[in-house]
Amino acid sequence: MKKKWWHNCVVYQVYPRSFMDSNGDGIGDLKGIISKLDYIADLGADMIWLCPVYASPNDDNGYDISNYYQIHPEFGTLKDMDLLISEAEKRGLGIMMDIVANHTSDEHPWFIESRSSKDNPYRDYYVWRDAVDGGPPSDLQSIFSGCAWEYDAGTDQYYLHMFSKKQPDLNWHHPPVREAIYDVMRFWINKGIKGFRFDVIDLIAKELEQGIIANGPLLHPYLQEMHREVLAGADVVTVGETGGADLEKAILFTSPERKELDMVFSFEHIALDEQHGKQKWDLKSLELDDLKRVLSNWQTCLTGKGWNSLFWSNHDQPRIISRWGNDQEYRYESATMLAVLLHMMRGTPYIYQGEEIGMTNVQFADLDSYCDIETLNMYKERIKQGFAHDDIMESIYVKGRDNARTPMQWNAESHAGFTAGKPWIDLNPNYPSINVQADHHSERSIYQIYKKLIELRKANDLIVYGDYELLESEPEIFAYTRTYQNEEWRVVCNFSNREIESQLICDGEIVIHNYDSPTEKLRPYEAIVYKLKN
Ligand code: GLC
Ligand code: CA
Repeated sequence: MKKKWWHNCVVYQVYPRSFMDSNGDGIGDLKGIISKLDYIADLGADMIWLCPVYASPNDDNGYDISNYYQIHPEFGTLKDMDLLISEAEKRGLGIMMDIVANHTSDEHPWFIESRSSKDNPYRDYYVWRDAVDGGPPSDLQSIFSGCAWEYDAGTDQYYLHMFSKKQPDLNWHHPPVREAIYDVMRFWINKGIKGFRFDVIDLIAKELEQGIIANGPLLHPYLQEMHREVLAGADVVTVGETGGADLEKAILFTSPERKELDMVFSFEHIALDEQHGKQKWDLKSLELDDLKRVLSNWQTCLTGKGWNSLFWSNHDQPRIISRWGNDQEYRYESATMLAVLLHMMRGTPYIYQGEEIGMTNVQFADLDSYCDIETLNMYKERIKQGFAHDDIMESIYVKGRDNARTPMQWNAESHAGFTAGKPWIDLNPNYPSINVQADHHSERSIYQIYKKLIELRKANDLIVYGDYELLESEPEIFAYTRTYQNEEWRVVCNFSNREIESQLICDGEIVIHNYDSPTEKLRPYEAIVYKLKN
């Protein structure tokens, strides 16, 4: 496979609302991010994936865009954005913009025009249908609960919204829509950004009449068109959010010769706590065997054919340490074990803000403390369906998106150093002990392990390009080898809080380790990487 500059890159994801507030209004902003660029650069990241900062009424925290060419005033101005791009560049950091192309806000001028009359030139920018039997055109459900069709009295038709009713879906089959999105991308490329993350890109080519929402037959042709029109010749890296993509599809998206995307985010490994065919809130217990199988498949099957993204968390997911680790007694051990497991794999790693200091899930006592529209809609719907309050709260504690959206914990001072004002969402009450400053002063710094892992990736093509093989091991152990040009590394991770005897402990040279020195057993959440002697 031809080498690309981004093959050994590491991306740090910033959720702007919750990262750093510069002016005391309680909302993170661009100047706040600029003030923390040194922090991100010191970690060793190459890129910052910036969740949407465009003008938006904020129904879904910026994923409802009303102007792709403007910055939301709460975040700053276009000038601040230019400054962010140039200050980032000075530190070797590229900005990856989040392109939300499946839908806009209902306050976007295209939609305001579109809904104004049936013969408006923008009518076909969105998906309009007549009522059927006096009700919605179909029983399609929105991902944010309830019917995916909203009646619009003005023209007596329904419009489609796969997310909130303030996020009408664009009609990609209408060529001017595609052209308009390509223009947006060109604008940001000209501003000097270095990458794009495409929001729910697998939904753009829906074929409603055939009942197809994700992965419509024209999806690949559209992505190839986007590549021809915009990406060819622009030196940017792209990642598509394709939640339902299996390996076969991932290969179609990411094979370089197909000229579509560079990599995708698949959700197979982060949906392992969900009951098949049900909603994300319907939980089942995690099995390490499933994780081994899924991650190993993604490691091996893309070899030579496509490229993998590596991620544990993002702004939609609960904190990884609260899922697969132990966020109490073994917080340091499990956070670093999970980091080692993922960062020794092949692919481009993404680190979500706060992951590098072991931030945890939050459990707010009151529903009122939650802000996320997905969570709030689901609560209402489930109460109507007769679910018990406590059961719903339990699923919010485990899967709610606000777990990832509490403010970044910088220090133990008021509001964790995130803001001088009142934060837009409550902090995780554990910030006095879990914060950047405390981590930096600790001998057991999670951040330092992340930093070391990134350094290792930069210095060893084995991590970037080597072959992967899962090793037979005790049930609580996840172990694999990486081999490249006569060199072999062995990664051994204990996923339990017990001491375990393991055949895999050996006398190889230790590359990275989250305990002081090895013993004859693997201790709770121990992670150890050996360079084997040959
Ligand atoms: C993606 C985003 C999520 C958003 C949704 C609708 O899944 O990551 O935050 O709510 O798309 O845009
Ligand atoms: Ca602010």
